[in-house]
Amino acid sequence: MKIAFVGKGGSGKTTLSSLFIRHLATTGAPVVAIDADINQHLGTALGLDEAEAAALPAMGEHLPLIKDYLRGDNPRIASAETMIKTTPPGEGSRLLRVREDNPVYDACARPVELEGGTVRLMVTGPFTDDDLGVACYHSKTGAVELCLNHLVDGRDEYVVVDMTAGSDSFASGMFTRFDLTFLVAEPTRRGVSVYRQYKEYAADYGVALKVVGNKVHGPDDLDFLRAEVGEDLLVTVGHSDWVRALEKGRPPRFGTLEEANRQALHTLQAAADATYELRDWERYTRQMVHFHLKNARSWGNERTGADLEGQVDPGFVLGEGVVAAATA
Ligand SMILES: Nc1ncnc2c1ncn2[C@@H]1O[C@H](COP(=O)(O)OP(=O)(O)OP(=O)(O)O)[C@@H](O)[C@H]1O
Ligand SMILES: [Mg+2]
Repeated sequence: MKIAFVGKGGSGKTTLSSLFIRHLATTGAPVVAIDADINQHLGTALGLDEAEAAALPAMGEHLPLIKDYLRGDNPRIASAETMIKTTPPGEGSRLLRVREDNPVYDACARPVELEGGTVRLMVTGPFTDDDLGVACYHSKTGAVELCLNHLVDGRDEYVVVDMTAGSDSFASGMFTRFDLTFLVAEPTRRGVSVYRQYKEYAADYGVALKVVGNKVHGPDDLDFLRAEVGEDLLVTVGHSDWVRALEKGRPPRFGTLEEANRQALHTLQAAADATYELRDWERYTRQMVHFHLKNARSWGNERTGADLEGQVDPGFVLGEGVVAAATA
């Protein structure tokens, strides 16, 4: 399952993604964790020190390799240079699997030992002063979208993405790439307004959205969220001393996480697992094509000087049964 955490700045996206990833790691499930936020904090939230986090390879800096690999020998994609973030896979493309080893993981993923398991961590790369042009920034998060569009995950396999809720994910098709999106909301008007905005975009694309209340202190907070969010409210998380201790650089054992918060993580996993049966690869593929055509027409064709609409393989549907024609 592909799971995103979105929400207002500071709402707790990184904290809750990292707790969810730790929880999954305790179950031994294979996990690919992706930090797709401009401000990269997932690595440290998963226990890396600053130096280790800074040394993580940036997906944005390996775009040529990623494109070359995914392109495989797909005849509709003439070169890696004409591959944009939305270019969909087709016959001949290479696909990514959660458990396999492949050159993309070799270049862009690092193993993180967590709670007796190992997860793969990938990061888009930090937003630096060199990224003043919007295009650079887009190409960075674009690497994640490209990978998600070529990724085939099975039951009990998880891809967890720490995202921004900003308009960037709407400009591309990124927000439609998930089986379930957890919108992290504090019980505040701003927290809830980000939810409304997200829900509006999501509605047109059938995006499954659930709200995770965070920093919920008591009945009043809970009433507020229930009133504003209604049935979309999945679960709430309270203030966590465990998280505070982690923030202080004194990581406690995960086993000592507050019981209520542990229960909340179980609820998140159950909600994620329940989406498996509802998957619609045909729609997933159709949506990536939709956003590709949109991007091709609005900037891609002009930027690359190629007719990117021709990259769409009309007969191709991504799915667990698809065997990539080109094997590594
Ligand atoms: N349930 C919680 N209990 C205690 N502290 C929390 C909790 N949730 C989040 N925090 C703290 O709130 C701050 C913001 O959380 P976090 O960094 O996870 O938010 P974010 O949404 O990822 O922010 P950004 O938009 O900057 O990426 C952090 O200091 C984090 O430790
Ligand atoms: Mg964050």
